[in-house]
Amino acid sequence: MCGIVGAVAQRNIVSVLVEGLRRLEYRGYDSCGVAVMSNGAPKRARSVSRVSDLDAQVRDSHLDGVTGIAHTRWATHGAPVTDNAHPIFSRDALALVHNGIIENYESLREMLRDKGYEFVSQTDTEVIAHLIHSMYRGDLFQSVREAVKQLHGAYAIAVMHKDQPHTVVGARQGSPLVVGVGNGENFLASDALALAGSTDHFAFLEEGDVVEITLDGVKIVDREGVPAVREVRVVAAYGGAVELGPYRHFMQKEIFEQPRAITDTIPQADHFDASIFGENAKQAFDGIDNLLILACGTSYYSGLTAKYWLESIAKIPTQVEIASEYRYRESVPDPKALVVVISQSGETADTLAALKHAQSLGHKHTLAVCNVGTSAMVRQTELSFLTHAGTEIGVASTKAFTTQLVGMFVLAVTLGKMRGFVDAKQETAYLTQLRHLPAALNSVLALEPQIIAWAEDFARKENALFLGRGLHYPIALEGALKLKEISYIHAEAYPAGELKHGPLALVTEAMPVVTVAPNDTLLEKLKSNMQEVRARGGELYVFADAGTRIVSENGIHVIRMPEHYGPLSPILHVVPLQLLAYHTACARGTDVDKPRNLAKSVTVE
Ligand code: M6R
Repeated sequence: MCGIVGAVAQRNIVSVLVEGLRRLEYRGYDSCGVAVMSNGAPKRARSVSRVSDLDAQVRDSHLDGVTGIAHTRWATHGAPVTDNAHPIFSRDALALVHNGIIENYESLREMLRDKGYEFVSQTDTEVIAHLIHSMYRGDLFQSVREAVKQLHGAYAIAVMHKDQPHTVVGARQGSPLVVGVGNGENFLASDALALAGSTDHFAFLEEGDVVEITLDGVKIVDREGVPAVREVRVVAAYGGAVELGPYRHFMQKEIFEQPRAITDTIPQADHFDASIFGENAKQAFDGIDNLLILACGTSYYSGLTAKYWLESIAKIPTQVEIASEYRYRESVPDPKALVVVISQSGETADTLAALKHAQSLGHKHTLAVCNVGTSAMVRQTELSFLTHAGTEIGVASTKAFTTQLVGMFVLAVTLGKMRGFVDAKQETAYLTQLRHLPAALNSVLALEPQIIAWAEDFARKENALFLGRGLHYPIALEGALKLKEISYIHAEAYPAGELKHGPLALVTEAMPVVTVAPNDTLLEKLKSNMQEVRARGGELYVFADAGTRIVSENGIHVIRMPEHYGPLSPILHVVPLQLLAYHTACARGTDVDKPRNLAKSVTVE
């Protein structure tokens, strides 16, 4: 999604800005641009192609300057054309970049038109540029403070004015913005990752903050205009660049990184203890009797999977809700609920808003299961569990999902133990299973050549059904999401028992039906559902555990999985579905890591 980089330095800053955009590319964007102060006025280059094209443009035009802002845009208001690409100018005096959505932009545009401002883009952003320009009286910081009071919606902005050529001002509300503190130079970015290599000292702005960066320092005020101090933290992990290595795409690399990511995520301790989730976790867990899980997309499916564990292992009632629905629904708050948000990025706008909504309703105990320790979600929850998946570049989430599952399993066993449902023997058994998981995953990854053969068939299809039951129904949902988002094949997932209540009408010889078949207590029921498909000519592609006695025959293709892995089986079964989606997308020649219309981190509503 949109990305911001800004800098004030004593050196030509263009390459730092462009490199910052390059680091944010994986989030998804459809245009990009950079502006610097040059000979007393802002000068810019913009591209509706990739950052590499922008880089070529700035080199050809010898764009240089010591103060600048840059942006990757994921279109919301207005098509991805050059006029709509940021930086947006106001009267060639002010340049601005913006992440987020301004909800009252239409009324502001009318008001600014009446004042004589001409609009040249279809963006909501242009109203911010003209608004700040209209209020400018020689102090950019002051005019930004005044202007943002009139904005409704979400924004992170960085802005510069020709009369203050060594100043960049930023503001945030509902979209992240961090300050990078350098040596004789200072930066702004929507994600600290953008500034790797320039600084590892970061201050994370809070909602409503306005910031001014100059060569000399950083000035911050909060939403009331009161000077604010935001702790500067060293975030060393951002130092390393993410390399593709021998893999064809980041998604493939990330699928194969899962054994390592899971090893890093499993807690080191030889027992399950509430302290894994934070200092106050024991006290918080003692006071709860149910869970409310809020998340989006793949993270929502990890919540759905976790519900089975939480209710069967910890016997704790669990509700799982899509964050964008919960935030606008009238719900009944329960002071005894633990609110759990699950997110790879920790910045997903809908999940963040749902968390804040839950808190505003009086929910006191909150826990984030998240892959980014410095994210807004981790900072805004009482407790946290960090997944150690490492940076996930592919838009399609893979290693973030399986590490989230590990985190949620640890939560289920920890609560189960505290509530007296997991004894010492069972605890040891769960821990042993967790520790063997990476090795089991390696044996599933070895199935890749067989999956590639299936992918050739799938690449020619336009529809697919995914079936699972019980604990593996959310895995079928995740498999269908993976296939649709990167191969653009329409895919639906159903609990296999639901087939006869409607979707069976879709089954013909042209419909591939992917079936997740663990050797669990529902196996015989699942086999009956498979027969229902075969009787209608549907072709089954089954990932079957050893011991299921499901064999390949006419219309049934089987890939043999290892022995059933008990409650952790979903973590094994999702991997072949990731590989099937990946290789199908490769066979169809799609842009696997950056699928059309999608962004990695969805920071707008
Ligand atoms: O960063 P988050 O986990 O909060 O993101 C939530 C979803 O946007 C994300 O899982 C999305 O569904 C993925 N593209 C799925 O692969």
